[in-house]
Amino acid sequence: MKASEVRQKFLDFQKKRGHKIIAPAPLVLENDPTTLFTGSGMQPLLPYLLGQPHPLGDKLADSQPSLRLQDIEDVGDPRHTTVFEMLGNWSLGDYFKKEQIPAFFDFLTKEIGLDPAKIYVTCFIGNEKYGIKKDTEAAEIWQEVFKKAGVDAKIAEIGSAADGDKRGIKPGEHIFFYDDKENWWSRGGGIESTPIGDPCGPDSEVFYDFGEDKQDVERYGQSHPASDGARFMEIGNQVFMQYRRKEDGTFEELAKKNVDFGGGLERITAASIDSFDVFKISLLKPIIDKLEELSGKSYDNNTDEMRIIADHLRGAYLLTAQGLTPSNKQQGYALRRLIRRAVLKALDLGIAQDFISEVVPIIAGNYDDLPDNILTHRETAVAVLEKEERAFRQTLNKGLKEMQKMIRQDADGILSGSDLFKLQDTYGFPFEVSVEEAYRQNITLSKDYKAEFDAALAEQRERSKTASKGMFKGGLEDHGEMSTKYHTATHLTLAALKKLVDGDIHQQGSNITPERMRLDFNLDRKLTPEEKQAVEDQVNAWIADDLPVVFDTYDKEYARDTLGAEGQFWDKYDDSVKVYTIGDFDAPVSREICGGPHVEHTGVLGHFRIKKEESSSAGVRRIKAVLE
Ligand code: ALA
Repeated sequence: MKASEVRQKFLDFQKKRGHKIIAPAPLVLENDPTTLFTGSGMQPLLPYLLGQPHPLGDKLADSQPSLRLQDIEDVGDPRHTTVFEMLGNWSLGDYFKKEQIPAFFDFLTKEIGLDPAKIYVTCFIGNEKYGIKKDTEAAEIWQEVFKKAGVDAKIAEIGSAADGDKRGIKPGEHIFFYDDKENWWSRGGGIESTPIGDPCGPDSEVFYDFGEDKQDVERYGQSHPASDGARFMEIGNQVFMQYRRKEDGTFEELAKKNVDFGGGLERITAASIDSFDVFKISLLKPIIDKLEELSGKSYDNNTDEMRIIADHLRGAYLLTAQGLTPSNKQQGYALRRLIRRAVLKALDLGIAQDFISEVVPIIAGNYDDLPDNILTHRETAVAVLEKEERAFRQTLNKGLKEMQKMIRQDADGILSGSDLFKLQDTYGFPFEVSVEEAYRQNITLSKDYKAEFDAALAEQRERSKTASKGMFKGGLEDHGEMSTKYHTATHLTLAALKKLVDGDIHQQGSNITPERMRLDFNLDRKLTPEEKQAVEDQVNAWIADDLPVVFDTYDKEYARDTLGAEGQFWDKYDDSVKVYTIGDFDAPVSREICGGPHVEHTGVLGHFRIKKEESSSAGVRRIKAVLE
């Protein structure tokens, strides 16, 4: 089966079971500070899994593009990819185990056509410390389901994966109990690593058996579902999400029990063609074919490099097609790393010329059927990637030449950490690239190259900190002027929020730098786009009115009760306070207790623009804005 057929069959199947199909979220999540990318189908649904009603109801399904950068080092083996699609279905307090387990089994055996005898499953063994029961309920449901399909499934107690490596499996066993490292799901991993406030619970994973000939006992021990070997591959995970971790570290039952099912589209497709190598499926094979053609080398002899290139360029395409561009920060840097690693691996294959423009259109063609709301920048993606490739090749050529020069000039031919630092600092040749390159060319690195590199980096940071202090002194006047303007803009923003959004809004915090202002205020919801726009327009209108800004000193009670001044720290103020008034004194636009300084009239502020409105903490929102 093709991946697109598996995806469609899954969505149709869930629709028939009464699920609403929801649009997948972008890979780059705007409002989730806990992670760089969407890493599972449940992530965008977090508020609903914690109890907020979903507008489309209690039964949802989708296919969610996901990216797990933490798996990047595993890419190269037959089954790991950084980017993948997660087929997902959710019950938000609707059905539970006895509906979910048979349904997924039916999907695999009847819709996809997998042989029931090749399916193996795992369940949670329980945890005494936290009083969480062994999931015999799930195991019994599984036994029933297997029985109906003609398989007499026996149950085995394994414990940890290491125990499994010693024990292996016995004839007839299909259902296995493991500890929380395998069968507890939270965004942090096992039971101890569950993040406070997150939903979580025991899970039941489903594996496909590619046959005994795939086991490698010497390397991985006896094979069993949770082993690292190539025989069993996890193709789906059903989380019985019924707990939430409390502040004190214990677990409380959620008011409604959820099912969070996630299954790898690529892996289910691989099982459907009985290939333990996911790179043989329709979404990846054409990329590999192209790499064989471009390099003149065979996949069988160059699996690792070709898998890494195929995976990374697929990830890079999906990110750029969603509007991300390479940069040196956060998500943009992750994208840059994917592109650079792909280019380096291509060099290993002997592809020395630009190749992204040849490969990426093939990837793009595979995603014609992904919704437009996700791939908003299809048209420009290839050009963005090509540009990055070209720039990186130039950096590489320069860096490689310098590296060779260093070795020639060095008596013992060993590169130290400070050499690697110089390559990065002066030639932009990244540390990790130097290290890979050194291994590739059999260049010896000094024993402590990493520590030496870190020390050189720390020293440079110290130097630049001292330098910027000096710079700040010299430029103080300019900076001071900008900060003064931001002080006044902060008062106007608060006044606009009170006028247009809610009269009970007060300042909860503020932070001003010469580059921007930040204002925290109480509100238990996000501003609507219309409100944000109205606040921005209002502030700009007040700037255009060129209102006077005046101050005077008053008795605290008088300022608060008679003048109606805003203040954040009534308990802390002295008896006499400084009050700034903007606009007509008797009907001011803004009146606040404040130490200042402020501009004398608003016309000098320039153009005001809100860059971001986000949550700061519970019940507190944060606006970041600039004057341009
Ligand atoms: N959220 C579950 C997972 O990522 C389904 O495995």
